Amino acid sequence: MTKSQYFNLCNDVTSEIKKAVSGLIGKPEAGVTLRMGADGTPTDKIDEVAENAAISVLEDDGRSMLFVSEELGEKRIGGKPEFTFVLDPIDGTFNAVNNIPFYCVPIAIGKSDLSDIKYGFVKNLVNGDIYCAEKGKGAFLNNRKIRVSNVSEISKLSVLSYSHRPHAMAINNHNVRRVRIYGSAGLELCYVASGIFDAFIDMRGMLRITDIAASKIILEEAGGTITDDKGELLHTPLDVKKRVNVIASNGFVHDKLLETCVEE
Ligand code: IPD
Ligand code: CA
Repeated sequence: MTKSQYFNLCNDVTSEIKKAVSGLIGKPEAGVTLRMGADGTPTDKIDEVAENAAISVLEDDGRSMLFVSEELGEKRIGGKPEFTFVLDPIDGTFNAVNNIPFYCVPIAIGKSDLSDIKYGFVKNLVNGDIYCAEKGKGAFLNNRKIRVSNVSEISKLSVLSYSHRPHAMAINNHNVRRVRIYGSAGLELCYVASGIFDAFIDMRGMLRITDIAASKIILEEAGGTITDDKGELLHTPLDVKKRVNVIASNGFVHDKLLETCVEE
């Protein structure tokens, strides 16, 4: 598939999801839990509506693919999958249900592992921003090339840090310039890719491949680095049950962050 075919498919899926969930944003019924999802976390009404909207676009598309999605797990579409389509139907469900304006739809296209993703697409459902990247071709926000920041001093860093565990607390105690948590990892990683933030850290052992697959390639194509907490490149099968720890950065501060994040 060409870059514009990837873009169009992802754009069609996210447009349909946006339409399908528009009447649910901020509504209590959106947050009603229907069942446990394949990823081991609850599927709320809004998650199911979003996932179903995606499936109907993909089934109409005609191409055969393996669909990997947070709520249903895995579904083969058509007879002979050409690629794997990895979706988080809504990343930031809590925010969407409570009308907190920070949630997105991340989509990655790859084969069988986080390390072989070839295309990433993240749509901010609140303002319509689209981040995308194809392997080897750079990263873009609304068609404009993006690049990570070049801040290299710890004391000057703006960090997105999920810090519920002692090793992540070290970051907060380390006198970085600012720390924020917004509740949609896919979109937060794009903020590192576009240079607004310098790093993203999540070592709760809770992130799923659906949360990070799309933003991983966007960040890398923007010049950033993303590893696990040991500094190893992420090699994780495209399975919604897997969990990963992530340190993502502009690259200039990666080693310093790895040193800082050792378990206390
Ligand atoms: C959540 C977001 C959030 C992360 C949580 C995820 P969901 O995704 O990515 O940033 O901290 O661990 O569960 O559940 O809204 O798709
Ligand atoms: Ca989700």
